[in-house]
Amino acid sequence: MTEKLFTPITIGNVTIKNRVIQPSMCVFFAEEEGSIGDAYLAYVDERVRGGVGMIIIPGSPHGKVGPGRPAMSDDKYLPGWKKLVETVHQYGAKLFCQLHPANLQAGRGFKIEMPADYTVEEIKAIVASYAACAERCKRVGVDGVEIHGAHAHEVAQFMSPLYNTRTDEYGGSLENRARFPMEIVKAIKEACGKEYPLIFRMSGDEGIEGGRRIQESAEIAKLVESVGADAIHVSRSMPESAEYASAPMSTAEVWRTASASHSKSSGPSRKRVARSTP
Ligand SMILES: Cc1cc2nc3c(=O)[nH]c(=O)nc-3n(C[C@H](O)[C@H](O)[C@H](O)COP(=O)(O)O)c2cc1C
Repeated sequence: MTEKLFTPITIGNVTIKNRVIQPSMCVFFAEEEGSIGDAYLAYVDERVRGGVGMIIIPGSPHGKVGPGRPAMSDDKYLPGWKKLVETVHQYGAKLFCQLHPANLQAGRGFKIEMPADYTVEEIKAIVASYAACAERCKRVGVDGVEIHGAHAHEVAQFMSPLYNTRTDEYGGSLENRARFPMEIVKAIKEACGKEYPLIFRMSGDEGIEGGRRIQESAEIAKLVESVGADAIHVSRSMPESAEYASAPMSTAEVWRTASASHSKSSGPSRKRVARSTP
């Protein structure tokens, strides 16, 4: 297993030098106004110097999302991201941006908008916001993007039978719940070209009563693949089942492999399926 870990892997048009990937984590090192400054650069430098093949950093596609979180919603944030690209590339590693609408997470005890609250016009505007963010990433030299469809953020809410109570074409059936993420994937590919790498992250099992199970997630994975996703990043859980999202150190290693391997055998046929992260 470790032999393969240190061999290259290709996602879209990008080859990563090994398969050690640091997933997106909100570490609140950005500057007050959402830009990337010295603290963030120092943190990333330490990680990438350690030898990871790729690091995924969250960037908000919509506005600025609170102190410490990096934004990628306007060209004014690009100088910081450019320095981040240079920091990562100097070690031969790759940088992906997780398109991360940070404030919009259900189950964290604050009132947020749910799928049923959005008009179709608002949905279209959000889709356009993701595409504009991805285009910005490409322009500044970020190697690829990841759609955050896990952990009850807005994309995850639309795919969830628990949170999505819409009765129009964006709710109900699995195909309807997958419509929003599929539109985002299509819009990004149109804005950036089909070769620009796109990872789709999702919770394989929401781990919650009334939530989505792995079998349905595998079907959604096929749908997002059909419109251009280059890799599926299988996480798991929602905030209500958070003990399973970031498992304690005492948890047995690679305990989520069953979820990922189900996605691999029953999900997308030829794309990358990352495993072992929740
Ligand atoms: C502090 C912290 C912040 C996180 N932020 C994000 C995030 O922004 N996006 C995301 O998809 N996952 C996020 N996660 C989940 C991680 O990406 C990862 O899936 C989790 O830490 C489990 O990985 P591990 O079992 O390898 O530790 C976060 C986890 C932690 C501990």
